[in-house]
Order: sequence, then C-alpha cells, then structure tokens
Amino acid sequence: MPLEKIVDRVYSVGAQHADRQLFDAFMPLHSGTTYNSYYVEGSEKNALIDPVEPEKLSQLLHALEELGVKKLDYIINLHTEQDHSGGTAVLMDRYPGVQLVGTAKVAELASTHLRLSKDLYQIVKDGEELSLGDRTLCFKSIPFAHWPDNTMVHLKEEKILFSSDLFGSHLASGSIWNRNTAKQLREAKAYYSEIMMPFRLQCKKYTAWTKALDLKYIAPSHGPLWKNPEDILEAYSDWTLDMPKSGKVVIAYVSMHESTAEMVQEMVLELNRLDMPYSLHNLGANPSSLSFAVGEMAADLVDSSALIFASPTVLTNPHPACQYAGVVADTLKPRLRYLGFMGSYGWATKAAERMKAITPQLKGEWLDPLMVEGYPTEEDKERIRVYTRDLVQRIQEARARDAAKLEQQA
Ligand code: FEO
Repeated sequence: MPLEKIVDRVYSVGAQHADRQLFDAFMPLHSGTTYNSYYVEGSEKNALIDPVEPEKLSQLLHALEELGVKKLDYIINLHTEQDHSGGTAVLMDRYPGVQLVGTAKVAELASTHLRLSKDLYQIVKDGEELSLGDRTLCFKSIPFAHWPDNTMVHLKEEKILFSSDLFGSHLASGSIWNRNTAKQLREAKAYYSEIMMPFRLQCKKYTAWTKALDLKYIAPSHGPLWKNPEDILEAYSDWTLDMPKSGKVVIAYVSMHESTAEMVQEMVLELNRLDMPYSLHNLGANPSSLSFAVGEMAADLVDSSALIFASPTVLTNPHPACQYAGVVADTLKPRLRYLGFMGSYGWATKAAERMKAITPQLKGEWLDPLMVEGYPTEEDKERIRVYTRDLVQRIQEARARDAAKLEQQA
C-alpha cells in the first residue's frame, strides 16, 4: 500500500495483501485485505501504531524509509494477533531503543503469541494518555472486539480514532482512502459476521461509546479509513440491535439427486408468493469453494431472521457440506429468531437431530423438521408450502412485536 498522508504528521504506512483469498483459513475474501499501520508524529515524540503481518512487513519498512523515519520512540500494539503485531520484533531491531506500549492484556498475550517479554512494555491503562508533545494519544480498552486485548487509541487533537479490528473491512482498494462507500460497507458486513458477530453485545457498547466522540476519521486496522464515521457507526448500530433488522430467510442447502433441491425450490416459490425476502446458498455447487458459499451465508446472517438448513441424509447424517455450514454458523452465533432443517432421506430419519446436536450455540427457535422420503410428491410440496407459510407468519409476528418494543423504548 502506498505511503499516504492522513493529516499533517499522521500517515498510513501499512501493507496490503490484495490477492489473499481466505482469512483465518476459512473466511473468503472478495477483495483481499490490508494490515494497516499508522505513523503519528508529535512535537517531541513519534509513534507507530500496529506493526503489520510479518509476511508483508517490507511494505511498512519501505514506507518508513520513504518518510525518512530515523528514530522511533514508541511502537503501540493495539492487539497481539499476528496480522497486526507480528512485525514487532523486526521493528525493534530496526529501531533500537524504541519503547513498546500496550495494555496489561496486550503485554500478557504478547508473551505467549509473540514470545516478547511483558517487561518490554510500558503499560497503559484504560483512559490513560500518552503525550507526544503537542499531540495526545488516549487509550480505550475494547475487550472481546474481538480478542481480550483489543485496544483503541484516540488522537484527540486530530479527532482520529485508531479502532484496531473494530469497524474494519477486508478490502484492499490500493489506498487508505476509499471512493466506494457501498462496497466498503458490504465488505465491513462480511468482516463483522466473522470477526465481531460472536461479540455483538460488546460491539454494541463500543459503538455507543464511539458515537459520543467528535470524530473526523475512524482508522481501523483492516481496510480503508471511514471518512464519514457515521457510515460505519450507523451500520454497527443496526447489526448489533437486539432483534434482526430484516425478516429475511437464509436457506443453506445441498442436494445430491435433486430431491432436496426440489424441496428448496418449493419453499422459494412460496416465499416469493408471500413477498418474503430470502437468500439461497448452494453449498454443493462448487465443492472446491465450499468456504465461499458458507462465507456468503455468514454475511447474510448478520441481519436475517431465520436460517433453514436443507440437506439430504447421507447414511445417518446431514450432508457434510451442510454440517460445515452448521458448525460455522454455530461458531459465529448470529442473532436469529428461527432455525429449521429439511431434506430428503432414504431410510434413516435422524439427520435433523444430528444437525441440532452439532449446533448447540445457535440461538433461535427450532421448527419441527420437515423430512421427505425420497423425491417430494405433490402432498410433500403442500407440506412445504404450509411449513413456509407458518415460518413467514412467525417472522411477521416477531417483527411486529419488535417494532412495538422499539416504539416503547423511543
Ligand atoms: Fe486483524 Fe484480530 O486481527
């Protein structure tokens, strides 16, 4: 990523990884990602926020050279996951005498994840300030957004919030300045689904805290800056609501001999008749990119009301692709009202029970399983239509209750 000025004496010096296709070895990336790093110069001291992923460290070193940074006073670790702190040791060699700065939790995790002694850190507390002379960095711990150590730092004089992983997006657009806000929000939503959704309540609290600041920019550790902080703060406000934003039904399906696909087709026809939004994710369309279908499903779960798994029974279990989707959804803990399992079977009838057993963390009311022996008959299709109408009615009633609750709170 090119060296870019944000405001006078504050620069983006991070790295981009435009061709990265998977994050955490399971989450698909549409547009690569970035590992942001920021250089802040004060009248007396300077600081580097977040050395980057070691694999891309040369980009950071090049940017610092281009800036002519001969001496570095502080390296601030906001989070010890390697994509932001993996380059710390090399930076310490490059700039002898540099002081590491982090919270006690950062220092603790640095000792295990980076094998850096805790004693190397100048510990900062929540709310503490670090003076660079004419500029002040104020620290705010944001535990479990998404690790215990995540920290934000507020450059008060310039109204910039360096937000660590919170408010990030996986988007390598070649610049810290992004011109396509809709795309940035789409990628931020997919990112939220994997990184932040399991910690919805914490994110809700931190979003409210951030909204109270008077900010010019939010500078996350992944993806472009938010030039208009309201864009991402409003999105997070929606994503972290206590109730789903939309009534949408997410259908994650796989079919071997078209029987389950036919069931899904019937459900989709009925959803269309009822004018209920839905999204379809074919888990078996391309086995070599199952993670892409599941990643798309995960992003949809951020603001949907129901998740229906549709799978044939393979021996006695749901199809492995469906099990994978279930395990991912279970891990990410989406905020859902209803869950369902439907599918075709040959002789074993316990696939729905197996699905429920492998998704213990999925919250929502499970509908009765809808199982069809072999290829669906006209009678089976009527059962599917009834099932779909019942689901839609439940969602509509829940949404009406939510609307009444919101009105009461207003
Ligand atoms: Fe982007 Fe939690 O590291």
